[in-house]
Amino acid sequence: MNDNILCVPTDYIPAKDALKDQIILVTGAGSGIGRCAALTYAKHGATVVLLGRTLQKLEVVYDEIESAGGPQPAIYPMNFEGAAEKDYADMCDTLDREFGGLSGILHNASELGDRMPISDYSCDTWNRIMQVNANAPFMLSQALLPLLLKTTTGIANIVFTSSSVARHGRAYWGAYAASKAAQENLMQTLADELDGTCVRCNSINPGATRTAMRAAAYPAENPDTLKTPEQIMPLYIYLMENASRSMNGQRFNAQ
Ligand SMILES: NC(=O)c1ccc[n+]([C@@H]2O[C@H](COP(=O)([O-])OP(=O)(O)OC[C@H]3O[C@@H](n4cnc5c(N)ncnc54)[C@H](OP(=O)(O)O)[C@@H]3O)[C@@H](O)[C@H]2O)c1
Repeated sequence: MNDNILCVPTDYIPAKDALKDQIILVTGAGSGIGRCAALTYAKHGATVVLLGRTLQKLEVVYDEIESAGGPQPAIYPMNFEGAAEKDYADMCDTLDREFGGLSGILHNASELGDRMPISDYSCDTWNRIMQVNANAPFMLSQALLPLLLKTTTGIANIVFTSSSVARHGRAYWGAYAASKAAQENLMQTLADELDGTCVRCNSINPGATRTAMRAAAYPAENPDTLKTPEQIMPLYIYLMENASRSMNGQRFNAQ
């Protein structure tokens, strides 16, 4: 493990069936980068479990995967804001019953929270953002670890989603920055603890990407100047497949 920031190899071209036989849970799969990752994983052969808080959005993604001829996905509606330990244990039981194991988790769901100075930041907002962006990835990873450890595909991957403000806090990013730093640190701790097992942990900083969250953070920005979620997908595939099997505890930039 080291402190370098890595990128996907420049010559990396994923095979069409790079994720064949994999079962991958994507959080925040109803929109933005998560939606694109779910569609991309299915296109490359994975059975995708679509997790999010808005059922309608998940159903649209489900239909898109089915009409593209991908493996039949599954939907798991869940709002991280109110989810507790028992909800994660129930999820583990359900996924175990349905699939008998898991080969990947993409921790993608996050909330932006308020863009304001710490002096004015509300404690309620701080707690909510930490719950969704930092506590949920911890509880989800812990609950589903037994399923990852019995993957039938040889290796299993937990991919966390970071941000530039995780690496160096910046004015007015409040709980979002702290929660992303926590998530990146959790990735490193877990990677160290799981070294030598079949489970690897890495994190992605997507960089400025054309989504609703980016537009909310930078309302004056022209979205046409930004990369689309589709353009950053090579790294998302790479970290879920065999080509990156030597990577553990690494931080990646998607751009
Ligand atoms: N876009 C960027 O420029 C950028 C840059 C750096 C990092 N990131 C990170 O990349 C990831 C994806 O961001 P994005 O830009 O695609 O954002 P987005 O379009 O706002 O999507 C966020 C997703 O998270 C889900 N979500 C939010 N709160 C949730 C909750 N309480 N329970 C369950 N699901 C919840 C949302 O569900 P609903 O659709 O139902 O609301 C949505 O599907 C995030 O982790 C973000 O921090 C993005």
